[in-house]
Amino acid sequence: MSEAWNIPESWQRAAERILRDDRPVRVMAVGMPDAGKTTFCAFLAEELRRADRAVGVVDADVGQSSLGVPGTISAGRVTQPIQRLSEVPFQMGYFVGDVSPTGHMLACLTGARLLADRLRAQGVQAIIIDTSGLVKGPSGHELKQRKADLLRPTHIVLIRKEGELESLARLWRDRQSFALIELPPSPAAQTRSPQERRARRAARFRSFFRAARPITLDLSRVRLRSTRLALGRPLDADTRGRLAEILQQEVLHAQEDTEGWTIVTPGWLSRPFLMEAARQLGVNAIHCIPSFRLGGVLCGLHDNRGRLIDVGLLQSIDFDHGRAIVLAPRAEPSQVHTLELGRVRLAPDGTELDRLRPGDL
Ligand SMILES: Nc1ncnc2c1ncn2[C@@H]1O[C@H](COP(=O)(O)OP(=O)(O)OP(=O)(O)O)[C@@H](O)[C@H]1O
Ligand SMILES: [Mg+2]
Repeated sequence: MSEAWNIPESWQRAAERILRDDRPVRVMAVGMPDAGKTTFCAFLAEELRRADRAVGVVDADVGQSSLGVPGTISAGRVTQPIQRLSEVPFQMGYFVGDVSPTGHMLACLTGARLLADRLRAQGVQAIIIDTSGLVKGPSGHELKQRKADLLRPTHIVLIRKEGELESLARLWRDRQSFALIELPPSPAAQTRSPQERRARRAARFRSFFRAARPITLDLSRVRLRSTRLALGRPLDADTRGRLAEILQQEVLHAQEDTEGWTIVTPGWLSRPFLMEAARQLGVNAIHCIPSFRLGGVLCGLHDNRGRLIDVGLLQSIDFDHGRAIVLAPRAEPSQVHTLELGRVRLAPDGTELDRLRPGDL
């Protein structure tokens, strides 16, 4: 593998150092975009596997995913020779619902820790965690620091050019709980433009959803999650009628929660208009979800143990009949306990339509 891959001497030494450790290891790779994190993880996984360790990988990069579908954190065991991380068979996933960790840090942290724990419970002795390139600035630092706190790695491999990420290096040096291994980027590392990254994601989404077919979920049984629609109680038909008159628009759904009302309408309504309507009705606030915004939302389908069984694309919600139509490749409707809404909208061919803010749905 090292012949095929142009592995620098320093990367080789880092792998040897990790291999010498006979405790169960947790190695977290951190670095700027295109530093070679994923390549290093694949190289290390293969070295450990060849040394007969039980190896597992957590792919905590929701944008440039290698194992699973983008928008999820995924994990799998390395039992066969690999040349690249995408050859590690997908075994388990955790739904984040967006293609960037921004705005979803809790989900990213929870998922990485949960999947690492599940690998460990399967007897995996060497866990390798590949992370996203969000590392710069206050939010990047915050994410990577918390991840290190929560995952309790035995080794952090920080791949960086000189002068880059000095503050993280300084923070992580001389620690008793883990060894910091600082490596230069591979000279073979290539950069990818934002367009290339997006195209790569679209291709992964496309191949994942190729076999998808529409399934109907009965919302009197299946619970919604990560949306205001899961909160509060529906308003009666009279109130909805009054609302429709004031808004001069059909109201497909209306409900009351602690923050005010949430409504679904066919078209978009401006904030000042909604504020005025709220004033007239004596309501704290009205939040409107235009129904077209629900079409194409990436969603996670969970079973009754809370495990991700499939990823789908929400097509529509029929509020009158309490049904959601979802394009999904694997799930049987009877297995689905919870439907979690993400914050990116996709066409069935994997093209990203838009990204929603965390509070939008
Ligand atoms: N040692 C290497 N030998 C050959 N190609 C490499 C090597 N290291 C990196 N590359 C190439 O450089 C590119 C970036 O590497 P890689 O995907 O590993 O970086 P990354 O840090 O994981 O990036 P991202 O932040 O997008 O996740 C890839 O196309 C990869 O194939
Ligand atoms: Mg990567």
